[in-house]
Amino acid sequence: MKDVQIDIRINSVTYDELSAKEQQLINAAKDATKNSYAPYSHFSVGAAALLDNDVIVTGSNQENAAYPSGICAERTTLFYANSQYPDSAVRALAVAAWTEGDFLETPIPPCGACRQVLLETEKRFGTTMRILLFGKKEIYVMEGVKNLLPLSFTTEYLAK
Ligand code: THU
Repeated sequence: MKDVQIDIRINSVTYDELSAKEQQLINAAKDATKNSYAPYSHFSVGAAALLDNDVIVTGSNQENAAYPSGICAERTTLFYANSQYPDSAVRALAVAAWTEGDFLETPIPPCGACRQVLLETEKRFGTTMRILLFGKKEIYVMEGVKNLLPLSFTTEYLAK
């Protein structure tokens, strides 16, 4: 037996250590939590995508009485961005979450389904995405979805 170890890299930064553009993206994600529709979980998530045409697209989680019909902030944002600007790669994605009257202390980790969609977004444009996960105590920054979803399933496995 041998161990297989896959390393991921996450930088923990403070707001002040981010570039002005990244601060703007974090603020847009925080703002987007206000448009969340989360009457069931009371957990409001906002996301903001910076496209390579310099447009910032935002989105939030939208829930449904039939729970699985709802969708997370990350997928709302990426699907909207790709619907409106199908030729613009996503350079960066920021995520923030608000619950019980405040933003989360710790960085908000995207769910598994969203990680898979983030990966596809990178693949379709052949680029890597900078990911910024907001927490009041620290912000996690990753370069590329491989740091969020190691050992990922991609289209290469489907190739004959
Ligand atoms: N949610 C997101 O929108 N993004 C995440 O990264 C984690 C979870 C949503 C889904 C659901 O509306 C609520 O948060 C509670 O799970």
